Amino acid sequence: MTQALYRKYRPKGWDTVIGQDHVVQTLTNSIKADRVGHAYLFAGPRGTGKTTVARLLAKAVNCLNEDPAQRPDNTCENCKAVNENRFMDMIEIDAASNNGVDDVRDLREKINFSPSQGKYKVYVIDEVHMLSGGAFNALLKTLEEPPPHAIFVLATTEIHKIPATVLSRCQRHEFRRVPVDEIVTNLKYIVAAENLTADDEALVLIARQSAGGMRDAQSLLDQLASTGTKITLALAQTVLGTATSKTVLDIISSVLDRQPARGLETIHRALDSGADPRSLARQIVEYLRGLMLIQMGNIDQVEATREVKVQMDAHAKAFSTTDVLRMMKIFNNAATDLRGGWQPSLSIELALAEVVDAPTVSPQIAAPRQTPLQPVSVSRTESQPEVKSEAPPQGESPASEKPIINSGDVIKSWKHLAASLPKTQANLSALLNSVKMIDVQGKTLVLGLASDVLISKIDKPDQIEAIQKLIKDNFNVELSVRCIVTNAKGKVPANVAQDGMVAAAIQHGGEIVDM
Ligand SMILES: Nc1ncnc2c1ncn2[C@@H]1O[C@H](COP(=O)(O)OP(=O)(O)OP(=O)(O)O)[C@@H](O)[C@H]1O
Ligand SMILES: [Mg+2]
Ligand SMILES: [Zn+2]
Repeated sequence: MTQALYRKYRPKGWDTVIGQDHVVQTLTNSIKADRVGHAYLFAGPRGTGKTTVARLLAKAVNCLNEDPAQRPDNTCENCKAVNENRFMDMIEIDAASNNGVDDVRDLREKINFSPSQGKYKVYVIDEVHMLSGGAFNALLKTLEEPPPHAIFVLATTEIHKIPATVLSRCQRHEFRRVPVDEIVTNLKYIVAAENLTADDEALVLIARQSAGGMRDAQSLLDQLASTGTKITLALAQTVLGTATSKTVLDIISSVLDRQPARGLETIHRALDSGADPRSLARQIVEYLRGLMLIQMGNIDQVEATREVKVQMDAHAKAFSTTDVLRMMKIFNNAATDLRGGWQPSLSIELALAEVVDAPTVSPQIAAPRQTPLQPVSVSRTESQPEVKSEAPPQGESPASEKPIINSGDVIKSWKHLAASLPKTQANLSALLNSVKMIDVQGKTLVLGLASDVLISKIDKPDQIEAIQKLIKDNFNVELSVRCIVTNAKGKVPANVAQDGMVAAAIQHGGEIVDM
């Protein structure tokens, strides 16, 4: 793979845009009728196609094909120019970095020049909510009287930050999260086109994890493909740091059997092998949602393997709907609990305790369980004694050893470093993107990865050398590199000073309540 999948598979025509039919329909109709607006606002979650559709629009309005219904045809001069990023009349502005009045003024001066290649000059302003107040006012003037050859496409993930005055000047289109099955279909297509091998279940997991963001899904696939092996469910689970369904099944069974200790043990085992506590909680919620669907007679809507479905069916019969709802609420809180900022394992442990501990509301399950619940108390000290005794990964080099460069600087430029690697090192680039924790200890760059699998991929002499070279070229220091598995426990997040008070508090069982 030479190019990031999400770049390579950016739709080139309307027909390959997924899950945004309502937007595509309206836009293609106006192209056919030759009634294109001058100001559009595309709003919606990250990676759902806003920039993609903006480009399609720019291509379509400038396409030279005589039949408007064929635009963009991707064969005329202008279409080709857009596809090759050399079309002068499509101007993409990132408002996050050009957010001032001067930038907009500059734009307003240039806007009066006629297009040089096409019929329309299309300005795509990404992350438009980042514009300053003054810049918005300046933009508003342009939107009030745009020159006939200008089309504006404003894109944002945060529509509530756009002033009403601007909103009212734009034709608004809301982009939606792409449904899981449509993401899966797209991933399957890419898997075939790239000659990869992947289990369907792995693709479903990827699709779920990306919460409706197509780019996220494609990047996750990229990341898994970079391991060079078959993309199995097990691999996806390890790399994505999600727990196995078996873990979820065991946890729910422990609730049913009222054996909280067994449940806690299962949770700890999952976290120790690299699962992320919040995604574990999410998976439990997902599973409970499946139980609810089954209880309501909608087993067809449940996406799971046949074996899992059999288990689910049994669980669905054993719990009452009220119980399932209650458990969902509790685990959902754990999944979104912000106090878990650094020590989120606590939230899920407490959730389990609460679920098992509460008085049973349903007569249906009260019957088989006459034994009263053993109340479990989960306290921080009880649940995590090993955190304190276990040397934290940072502990190997004494905290007093001063980092020779600021880890914050490395963290900040990490994405950029990963992207700067040549195409021949696309694999390494993907691996760098999966690094979860970055720290500099003395002369050592410590990289935290989610699993042993990932470490075995990255920890090879030539790759390490390449990383060292990257650091040397960009920061002019020589660092050795150490890779560690970052799991949920006893770790200081990358953005917290590793030798400061906060780190010390964390290593002694404290938790960050707010960042
Ligand atoms: N609706 C979609 N259909 C097909 N592919 C998509 C869709 N949305 C996103 N993608 C894929 O994700 C990549 C990124 O999409 P795009 O840049 O359009 O997202 P965006 O909505 O502009 O995101 P952001 O808010 O981060 O700017 C595309 O190159 C494409 O591969
Ligand atoms: Mg975009
Ligand atoms: Zn064309």
